[in-house]
Amino acid sequence: MSPRVMKPSDGVAWVTGGSSGIGEALSQQLARQGWTVIISARSKDKLDAIASAYTGKGRLVAHAVDLTDPEAVEASVKDIEAAHGPIALAVLNAGIYVSINAENPSYEAYAKTFDVNLKGTAACLCALTPRMSERRSGQIAIVSSATAFGGMPTASAYGASKAALVNMAACLRLELHRYGVLCQVITPGFVETPAQDDNAFPKPFMISAQTAARRIASGLRSRRFEITFPRRFTWALKAIYALPYSWSIGLVRRQTGWNKPV
Ligand SMILES: NC(=O)c1ccc[n+]([C@@H]2O[C@H](COP(=O)([O-])OP(=O)(O)OC[C@H]3O[C@@H](n4cnc5c(N)ncnc54)[C@H](OP(=O)(O)O)[C@@H]3O)[C@@H](O)[C@H]2O)c1
Repeated sequence: MSPRVMKPSDGVAWVTGGSSGIGEALSQQLARQGWTVIISARSKDKLDAIASAYTGKGRLVAHAVDLTDPEAVEASVKDIEAAHGPIALAVLNAGIYVSINAENPSYEAYAKTFDVNLKGTAACLCALTPRMSERRSGQIAIVSSATAFGGMPTASAYGASKAALVNMAACLRLELHRYGVLCQVITPGFVETPAQDDNAFPKPFMISAQTAARRIASGLRSRRFEITFPRRFTWALKAIYALPYSWSIGLVRRQTGWNKPV
């Protein structure tokens, strides 16, 4: 059975990291398409405020959970499905960016990044894929990043976690196909969100969270594996990283200003 794109009549949508930035904008975009969207994050107050302030079509429902607690994630999926029906569409979007400096690295920063971005996503997948496989229906989109394509200075934890997510999504795309479950990966370039507030480096072609949400929502209505945007940036990056490493690393070093001696 070929996987198909999910519709609001198939069940509810679940967006992790729905209290801020891309996740918040995407949840509202999906609700406007008629979905009941369960929004998750740790901050219950923020989720409640967003859900109760939403007045458009569809519905936002707050469900707080810390993705670094796999038992809580399993219990959340069980509770969401008992209360609202099957999760037809899951956008695994929660993630953190912690800058790491090679001169003064922090093991804690590596561990925290992998705990949320990688193990948090794995916890969601462990709760979702058995249920969707059994139902022979469902759609999962994992939010990675254009940083996954190749090395970027100060992103050794974030980039590694996001590259792993692309691989994870590709493996699951292969496996889930025969269960009729669609798996996609999302690789955005720079998006203006609170996560970018502390980042001082240049952010070429940065787009708003609302524009990102529209691009994601449009990609979720297709069956293509990768949803990437803005393409003038992400395709240029892909072209750079398709070069031999000795060229691409030198190019990125120059473009990011890391060719200057300290
Ligand atoms: N902004 C960009 O330029 C950009 C580019 C490419 C990819 N991305 C990716 O897009 C996704 C969303 O990013 P954003 O920029 O919208 O970030 P954001 O505004 O900082 O939102 C991150 C969300 O993740 C939630 N979260 C963090 N830790 C969590 C945990 N342990 N358990 C549950 N939820 C948690 C946060 O809520 P709480 O803190 O309340 O838990 C928040 O809702 C991330 O995966 C990011 O890596 C962003």
